[in-house]
Amino acid sequence: MTLKSVLKAVGGLVVVAVAGGAVYLYGFLPRQRPAPDFQVVSTPEVLARGEYLVKHVFLCNDCHSERDWMTFSGPAIPPLGAGRACIDNNSKAVGINFGMAGFPGRLCIRNITPDVETGIGGWTDGEIVRAMREGVSRNGEALFPIMPWFMYQYMSDEDAAAVIAYLRAQEPVKSFRPDRKLDFPLNIIFRFYPKPLDGPVPSIPRSDTVAWGKYLTKVARCEFCHTARVRGQVEPLPGRLMSGGVPFTMGTRTEYSKNLTPHPDGLGNWTKEAFIARFRVHTVPFPLEREEDNSEMDWVAFSGMSDEDLGAIWDYLRTLPPLETKLLARAD
Ligand code: HEC
Ligand code: HEC
Repeated sequence: MTLKSVLKAVGGLVVVAVAGGAVYLYGFLPRQRPAPDFQVVSTPEVLARGEYLVKHVFLCNDCHSERDWMTFSGPAIPPLGAGRACIDNNSKAVGINFGMAGFPGRLCIRNITPDVETGIGGWTDGEIVRAMREGVSRNGEALFPIMPWFMYQYMSDEDAAAVIAYLRAQEPVKSFRPDRKLDFPLNIIFRFYPKPLDGPVPSIPRSDTVAWGKYLTKVARCEFCHTARVRGQVEPLPGRLMSGGVPFTMGTRTEYSKNLTPHPDGLGNWTKEAFIARFRVHTVPFPLEREEDNSEMDWVAFSGMSDEDLGAIWDYLRTLPPLETKLLARAD
């Protein structure tokens, strides 16, 4: 073999490898299954459950609407669910962006009202449930993990159906949100995250309060905000479960989520009664003079959670290993 032919062969291999990689990334990622055959039957009970979950547990509209940060707990601004202004390279540090100034690309939180043209009115129940729990949009694209599908993946079929029934019962709003555009390497990295579910997700019996509470800390995203993870990654840092210290930006102030483990840094000295009562302190929004006095945690929305649900969360939190608080370094 001459040197030239060797180079040619190696060059060919590189081309094959690069092309293979591209086919893998664009053909096989994100990992996904066809949208499941998921049929939602709407009854008054199902709708009421869906309303409770959307308003007080899952808080879909806290992201899928604009927020009023000059009012305590940042209530979502109507039209609810119609989406949000895009964040991009020029955005100032905002909560949804984990306080980063500038976003590597453009991300627009989309319209989840039942408008057929610009919302999810034309989606099947299976497409919606796959987006919520498996992080794959209708067109097979990975959803950027600010959409907390990696927390909602635990959502039971029953609760997912209730949410879909409720979303479908809302007023359709015409509100076009442009497509996402992500810069390299983000456009590649996040395509590796989605993970299809392999079957139905059964409901957890409420009599098992610890298991029920654990479920709620995932789908209500308590775990997400109260557990340190590397920015942009979906897995918690080892040994940090629920130990708080995650930075959030409120205007010019950085606030850190609270340690929820039974450590003295956390809820060690709290009682179940005090924990539930803490959620009843702010049940209505009130105006603020400065954004800095706000909280990233939507206390007003969570104040609608039942004593039973909050009690179950407490029971679960008491089973966690006590961990001291370590503050996670700020992202920017
Ligand atoms: C923490 C913020 C956040 C919360 C809470 C949230 N979402 Fe999202 N959602 C997003 C973002 C961001 C996207 C866009 C992701 C992208 O374009 O890659 C999105 C996208 C979606 C999509 C895909 C829309 C499309 O046109 O592709 C659906 C459906 C959806 N969300 C439904 C829900 C539902 C239902 C809930 C509540 C159970 C919810 N989301 C809660 C942030 C959130
Ligand atoms: C969007 C992020 C976010 C979510 C979701 C969230 N928290 Fe928080 N939480 C925070 C932040 C930030 C603080 C510190 C600021 C404050 O106290 O308002 C906090 C504070 C707390 C505190 C301490 C309050 C005090 O008086 O010291 C408790 C208790 C708590 N959260 C429990 C929960 C539980 C339970 C859930 C789920 C139902 C939850 N949080 C969901 C961000 C969040």
